Amino acid sequence: MACISQLPDAAKRLQGKVAMITGGARGLGECMARLFCQHGAKVVIADIRDQLGQAVQDSIGTELATYVHCDVTKETDVENAVNIAIYKYGKLDIMVNNAVLIDEAKPSILDNDVTEFERVVSVNLTGPFLGTKHAAKVMIPAKKGSIIMVGSVCSSIGGVATHAYTSSKHAVVGLTKNTAAELGKFGIRVNGLSPYFISNALAREFFKLDDDGCSSVYSNLKGVALQEEDVAQAALYLASDESKYVSGHNLAVDGGFTTINPIFGLFSKS
Ligand SMILES: NC(=O)c1ccc[n+]([C@@H]2O[C@H](COP(=O)([O-])OP(=O)(O)OC[C@H]3O[C@@H](n4cnc5c(N)ncnc54)[C@H](O)[C@@H]3O)[C@@H](O)[C@H]2O)c1
Repeated sequence: MACISQLPDAAKRLQGKVAMITGGARGLGECMARLFCQHGAKVVIADIRDQLGQAVQDSIGTELATYVHCDVTKETDVENAVNIAIYKYGKLDIMVNNAVLIDEAKPSILDNDVTEFERVVSVNLTGPFLGTKHAAKVMIPAKKGSIIMVGSVCSSIGGVATHAYTSSKHAVVGLTKNTAAELGKFGIRVNGLSPYFISNALAREFFKLDDDGCSSVYSNLKGVALQEEDVAQAALYLASDESKYVSGHNLAVDGGFTTINPIFGLFSKS
């Protein structure tokens, strides 16, 4: 029996759909897994944190959720996770490339080495490439599908996080646009989803912030703080048929942060 709050059938926006979420063992991926299941989807959670992933699976309920150990940098792991979705649920409608690695903040590029740079790019760019490739393999014969790449405000501006993370997050927007162009003829949509700072474990660890620090992070939009649920709701839209004509788009969930220059202009902060 599933242990998530159930919506009435008419309110379920992913009824009958099957999704795979990489990096679904915690954070935003876990939140999306729970929301998608609430909306009637079956979800494969693909991650390397086995204990956490199993716990999410068990708390959602094994009828709706399946945890698979999958390192997104390994093609055989990604292929295996997609095969498990097909074996267990018969199809794959939604692929969310969400898994992430962020490196330690270093004061200078001179302090970085190629192995560390490539490690980040491997999870954040090669991972979505492999996820998209193996999702497309099973979506093409079905002539439909929705692929979501989780980016960041670092997909469009520099200086917020490390150069490796920023490079990889810019690159997934390129991957989104190119694969949207390639896969459109098969009815497959590919979109990006780019959140601002969410006060969760990843952001707290990277920015070394406590509660007070998190609440004082700059936001263009006052009176509201971005939560994982807000981003999961945007993913739900991109995953569902409500966005059936949206493809190649990068949906910013950032309160206007990347479209506004707060330093110089009519509304600048003095
Ligand atoms: N937290 C934020 O403030 C923020 C802001 C903007 C964008 N994002 C994006 O949101 C997405 C989710 O981030 P989060 O905050 O939930 O991070 P998180 O660290 O809480 O979760 C990421 C998950 O990815 C998994 N993972 C790492 N390497 C993996 C690998 N090789 N194979 C499979 N899984 C792997 C981790 O085990 C973890 O469960 C990321 O793409 C991130 O860039 C986060």
